Amino acid sequence: MAVRRRRPGPVAAAVLLLLAVATQAAASPIKTVVVVVMENRSFDHMLGWMKRLNPEIDGVTGGEWNPTNASDPSSGRVYFGEGAEYVDPDPGHSFQEIRQQIFGSDDASGPARMDGFVQQARSLGDNMTAAVMNGFSPDSVAVYRELVGEFAVFDRWFASVPSSTQPNRLFVHSATSGGATSNNPEYVHYY
Ligand SMILES: *[C@@H]1O[C@H](CO)[C@@H](O)[C@H](O)[C@H]1NC(C)=O
Ligand SMILES: *[C@@H]1O[C@H](CO)[C@@H](O)[C@H](O)[C@H]1NC(C)=O
Ligand SMILES: *[C@@H]1O[C@H](CO)[C@@H](O)[C@H](O)[C@H]1NC(C)=O
Repeated sequence: MAVRRRRPGPVAAAVLLLLAVATQAAASPIKTVVVVVMENRSFDHMLGWMKRLNPEIDGVTGGEWNPTNASDPSSGRVYFGEGAEYVDPDPGHSFQEIRQQIFGSDDASGPARMDGFVQQARSLGDNMTAAVMNGFSPDSVAVYRELVGEFAVFDRWFASVPSSTQPNRLFVHSATSGGATSNNPEYVHYY
């Protein structure tokens, strides 16, 4: 198996953080739940390196890698790093781009080897390859670092649709996208 980029929350997926704020008073210790929904970034990209602060978090170690070419095992490896900075423009996050990231090709009938992130990023320019194979060091996202130290992190949450923003927003609000797998200007009216 080639790929060691484990989380099927590709760079395309929104990241959801649920923070339960405990109090001593009520029957349930959970008083407030804060849902933070972001765009176009994976769990590993934002919080993967928090594993260093808490080994129980299903994050990254730096041993994860992707082949340069998912069809050619000898094409070289790109390992996951901790040098993420602001990413602009965005990594690919359409349904078609994510299919290639997950399956290594446009053929979704095979196993989801998660080996096409580098290959797909190459089609978007050289600097995108580094961008998709890097996460933020805890110190470079200090607010998240503190929140992770104080509250629960849901590290097995995955995007509802392996696609762009709007279908996933629709799932957050209504538990379905009505079958939609891509953005549609009409949806803007609804949120
Ligand atoms: C996410 O991608 C959309 C295009 O699909 C773009 O308009 C938006 O600015 C991106 N958001 C972030 C936070 O990168
Ligand atoms: C990837 O490897 C395959 C198999 O060797 C080859 O046919 C294809 O042209 C390569 N693609 C790129 C973009 O290098
Ligand atoms: C990455 O490359 C693209 C296209 O060459 C360019 O528009 C963009 O500014 C670059 N981004 C960074 C962070 O260097």
